Amino acid sequence: MPSIVVIGMQWGDEGKGKVIDLLSERAGHIARAQGGNNAGHTIVAKGQEYRFHVVPSGIIYPHTKCYIGGGTVIDPVSLLSEFEGLRTRQIDFEDRLFLSRYAHVVMPYHRLLDQLAEKAKGTAAVGTTGRGIGPCYADKANRSGIRIADFLNPKAFRAQLEKALAMKNRELENLYGHGPLEFDPIFDEYQRLAERLGSFAAPVEELLFAAAKKGERILFEGAQGALLDTTFGTYPFVTSSCTLAGGVCSGAGVGPSLIDQTIGVAKAYTTRVGNGPFPTELKPDELSRFPDHSTARELGTTTGRKRRIGWLDTFLLKHTICLNGTDFLALTKLDILDGLDEIKICTGYKHCRSFPATLDELQSAEPIYETHPGWKQSTRGVEVYNDLPGPAKAYVRRVEELCGVSAGLVSVGPEREKTLWLDRFFE
Ligand code: GDP
Ligand code: IMO
Ligand code: MG
Repeated sequence: MPSIVVIGMQWGDEGKGKVIDLLSERAGHIARAQGGNNAGHTIVAKGQEYRFHVVPSGIIYPHTKCYIGGGTVIDPVSLLSEFEGLRTRQIDFEDRLFLSRYAHVVMPYHRLLDQLAEKAKGTAAVGTTGRGIGPCYADKANRSGIRIADFLNPKAFRAQLEKALAMKNRELENLYGHGPLEFDPIFDEYQRLAERLGSFAAPVEELLFAAAKKGERILFEGAQGALLDTTFGTYPFVTSSCTLAGGVCSGAGVGPSLIDQTIGVAKAYTTRVGNGPFPTELKPDELSRFPDHSTARELGTTTGRKRRIGWLDTFLLKHTICLNGTDFLALTKLDILDGLDEIKICTGYKHCRSFPATLDELQSAEPIYETHPGWKQSTRGVEVYNDLPGPAKAYVRRVEELCGVSAGLVSVGPEREKTLWLDRFFE
């Protein structure tokens, strides 16, 4: 199994960073294919916590090569600040981090327009991360974006920025009554940023192809989650890229024949950050019995917002397993359920044969629940799957049965070692 895709199965923040870090020990290459610094991936290793936004979560292992693919959108300010973070942690990355020349650049007007559009939407706001992701992808689709290759060429960058800024200033003024942005300060600042990023630009697509041809192990790191996918997610409460396993091909620039396996990361419950429908969201009394946000590590990695919490939804998972062709589940955060008396699993929505496509249907969906007894003891110290308390194993087995997919690993804590392996990936 030389190449594995790790993808989020819910609305993001499933624990992809932890899973990528774990598998990176056995992989040579780790690539991000889409998204930008809207993503926040957390790793806890050797007593230290790391948070990555665009840098692949495999960077901690010194033997890896890491790639940022052509389907991503790059905010140079944020990426360079991630680089500073790596230097502070003494993680050597200069010769093993490669940035595709096809990735698009998030400019200051993208961030501003993201925030202004959200404000203008009022109660209909998506609840974006405010990082300019949507406006940047919109420019890409509209053929008015700036790609890394052009960003690194002062002449091309000047010409493209002049054109783009003229249009953006009209948009800012006409739609939002906002004053114009000045060309010179932006050009000068971004020109300096380009100089600092230049040495990372590389033919990522060719490097990945060559690695695959040699049979070397490649990990593709998904960002966001399946239901934030711009086509198949809970539109319009979605992000602006393809977050599915299939998106890895177009985003990293690899062909489907290079992908061998898809691991879907799913929390043992469900969360979502930002607005939009969430059928199994906890009622206030249920939430009061759930571990608080800080204990459950459910404060957003990127924006610090409290994540909304709900019961595990296997109707949703069956849908996202179908969208991704998921081979195995990585079931994370089982330990967060440790203290609960009862745990619910949603098995379907009343009157729905297939997962609803409209907001109206999703907003009025009535989940059908099974109630399972809690195990009421800590799973944090468990080292092998068989030592889990009986009701915890029964919970995992029921999830596998309802989803029709086996769990390849179960995670019982944020740290690397708090992982119960059921499958030896890459072997
Ligand atoms: P990602 O975006 O999918 O990488 O997930 P995030 O890092 O944004 O959010 C997951 C949070 O849960 C992080 O704080 C992780 O450290 C934490 N986490 C991951 N797996 C586990 C687990 O099994 N148990 C607990 N308690 N925390 C976990
Ligand atoms: P990771 O990779 C959770 C959500 C935002 C918002 C919607 C659109 O850490 O799982 P955007 O800024 O992308 O235009 O916001 O998508 N969102 C995420 N939610 N995890 C993420 O990434 C997310 N990236 C975007 O909260 O609802
Ligand atoms: Mg996250």
